[in-house]
Amino acid sequence: MSDSLARGTDHARSMEEKHVTDRRGFTKSCLAAIAATVTGWPQIRLTPRHLLQPPIRVNGPRLNQSLTDLSRFGANPQGGVSRVAYSDADRDARAWIMDLMRAAKLDPRIDLAGNIVARRPGTDASAKPIVFGSHIDSVPEGGNYDGDVGSLSAIEVARTLAERGVVTRHPLEVVIFQNEEGGLVGSRAWIGEVTARDLALTSRSGKTIADGIRFIGGDPTRLAEVRRSPGDIAGYLELHIEQGGTLDREHIPIGVVEGIVGIGWWDVTVTGFANHAGTTPMNERHDALLAAAKFIELVNRTVTSEPGRQVGTVGRIQALPGAPNVIPGQVLLSLELRDLDAAKIERLYQTIAREAERIGTESGTTFTFRETNRQAPALSDPRVRGLIADAAKSLGLATKVLPSGAGHDAQDMARLGPMGMIFVPSVAGVSHAPRELTRPEDVVNGANVLLGSLLQMDRTVA
Ligand code: GLV
Ligand code: MN
Ligand code: MN
Repeated sequence: MSDSLARGTDHARSMEEKHVTDRRGFTKSCLAAIAATVTGWPQIRLTPRHLLQPPIRVNGPRLNQSLTDLSRFGANPQGGVSRVAYSDADRDARAWIMDLMRAAKLDPRIDLAGNIVARRPGTDASAKPIVFGSHIDSVPEGGNYDGDVGSLSAIEVARTLAERGVVTRHPLEVVIFQNEEGGLVGSRAWIGEVTARDLALTSRSGKTIADGIRFIGGDPTRLAEVRRSPGDIAGYLELHIEQGGTLDREHIPIGVVEGIVGIGWWDVTVTGFANHAGTTPMNERHDALLAAAKFIELVNRTVTSEPGRQVGTVGRIQALPGAPNVIPGQVLLSLELRDLDAAKIERLYQTIAREAERIGTESGTTFTFRETNRQAPALSDPRVRGLIADAAKSLGLATKVLPSGAGHDAQDMARLGPMGMIFVPSVAGVSHAPRELTRPEDVVNGANVLLGSLLQMDRTVA
């Protein structure tokens, strides 16, 4: 589909001109037709009369109202949500969102991996589906926009198409992926990468991933049946909040995502020797927490020791047994590394693991690492980036191409077909926190760019 998509993009531009109703577009078509007669260039067809209607736009107030409605599920006192995957709040929000899909004339079902999928038939039964959507699970004490904006906008786009009687050539699939925040579990199932070991991991809800999938209506023993292969989708689009501060700082309403970082997660265990905090001299201790403190500093030092956008975080720590009068004998930590280059993540990890061993030798402790999640980085498809930029331009919205430092289900979908992501500004770059905010007008702009990109993709991909 590569060349045809590139050619198609040009074709789509002329199609878009036909579709646009404003006087300028119409005049341009007339002039082109006159020029064609005079010069003998290929004839450009005039805009059919039935296309001369107001351009399609989503219902902005309805979309923002649905964001407010969704924020009730798992609402926390800080003003955000704690709607971790497989919690009661997650299950209730999923039921609500399936009702919203029905109101959008969609027929949602839960696939065997627990993703919510609604298919809308197209006119060409042989065409592969265009998939678009996001997620509605949150991190603990998260905000009301991460995942929600893309999920609700996808449903709003489908509803707008239904109301306007637009039937695309490709079938459309609106998807709400399950457990994005716990390691892209739902989208990884689609690419066949959820292992038995993953299923046994405990999620933030307290349930194992396997039990969690059962809890939301999937079947962890039949994940092979949801697996898709490269080429099984015509394309994937996801609208998302930026979660960083670039667009907000530069007053740019639309981000065109260049690529999504790869992510590695490890559980790190530091083992020392628990002993009496009053009677053990300072030079005879095997203090696991002191070694862990040095480890945290090591992660920061290693990641910042070379130029680039790589980031490294220790986000979780637990000291055992956890009493003021006991030297900690064991510490459990998390390590996370991110970059657009998978080889760099691996190199940083190797350095950290080697240096941690040195800290262990010097402090009479041992470090062990267990990898719990690895997501490959993914570049978006340059031609889809073009579609998104064109859609924004036709709405008079400025764009900026930027990388995503956050992980997204889109990086798995890039393995199945051409992928593109649209970003909208996050006020002050705050995300994964209750103060996360995207302004209502930015949400609506993003949804309209999603709608325009989707229609353009429908016209241009095979
Ligand atoms: C997902 O939001 C992530 O980047 O952790
Ligand atoms: Mn997200
Ligand atoms: Mn997130």
